[in-house]
Amino acid sequence: MAAERSGKVTVAGAGLMGTGIAHAFASAGYETVLTDIAGEALTRAQSAIAKILDDGVRLGKLEAGAAESAKTLLSVTADTVEAATGASLLVETVSEQMPIKIAVLEAAEPVLAEHAIIATNTSALSITEIARGTRDPSRVVGMHFFNPVHKMKLVELVRGLQTSDETLAIARGYSDSIGKTSIVVNEAPGLTTSRMSALAGNEAMYMLMEGTASAEDIDTALRLGFNHPLGPLELGDVTGWDTRLAVLRYLHQTLGEKFRPCPLIIKMVAAGRFGRKSGAGVYRYENGEKVPGSGLKASTL
Ligand SMILES: NC(=O)c1ccc[n+]([C@@H]2O[C@H](COP(=O)([O-])OP(=O)(O)OC[C@H]3O[C@@H](n4cnc5c(N)ncnc54)[C@H](O)[C@@H]3O)[C@@H](O)[C@H]2O)c1
Repeated sequence: MAAERSGKVTVAGAGLMGTGIAHAFASAGYETVLTDIAGEALTRAQSAIAKILDDGVRLGKLEAGAAESAKTLLSVTADTVEAATGASLLVETVSEQMPIKIAVLEAAEPVLAEHAIIATNTSALSITEIARGTRDPSRVVGMHFFNPVHKMKLVELVRGLQTSDETLAIARGYSDSIGKTSIVVNEAPGLTTSRMSALAGNEAMYMLMEGTASAEDIDTALRLGFNHPLGPLELGDVTGWDTRLAVLRYLHQTLGEKFRPCPLIIKMVAAGRFGRKSGAGVYRYENGEKVPGSGLKASTL
């Protein structure tokens, strides 16, 4: 069972990511308070966390006592100020919109513990800009988690222009304490992961469009040749090509020509083939399962 740790952790935003992050901190022994303006998000998050813990016990990966203790350490409230009062760490993971993030930090910062740090889980927004509105921007850092948080080991720690070394070290300590491996990235569009994944996915789509190989063979090449768990086209179907296109457009605008979105992605998004979530992307899906042999064929592009 994880030993109880000192210092309260507040997670603001109880969506997909906030749910996973709150689970990670509560499981590691932190008093964790999850907050969201939407009451239903809090109810959903609490039952999703209970399910992850119960599944862990059922599969023999977690002791029943550890699951109970994590549930006891977790609480939820729709009141941001109440949630943040006295917290040593605030993890902001609300919707990806600058004004919303700034408003949450403005409300929470004055009531945090004296030496608290503020971590933002933004995927693409500027940490430096998010920090600008705070009283002490040196205490703001990016902690970029991956979905699903309970399975993914990586945290990208993002240093904004004014992030202090001390804040970065504290964030690294938190990341270690919840069993994650962290890397440090100086703030840059797409950090390391989104930038690399966008480039690989784009290139795979060019290969498909040019008829270099079939969709299935491109994915098999990266799965078996590089030991990637998913091929780049399968991964794009999971991420959603609409999201992928938005990221590519942003990287094209900020980092230049090599990120120009492949015309096939633009065509797929125009057709509503977003990926798994719309039932078809590069592959077709039935009942959530990939239909064998359904990859887009060069002859149909
Ligand atoms: N989805 C991913 O794979 C992923 C991965 C890494 C980082 N992120 C980042 O994490 C953040 C959250 O993403 P998500 O996928 O969990 O989104 P989501 O839409 O599932 O959840 C966002 C939550 O924020 C809440 N919210 C909005 N305004 C709020 C406010 N003022 N106060 C409190 N809560 C508020 C919403 O009610 C919602 O429950 C974003 O910044 C996103 O870019 C997402």
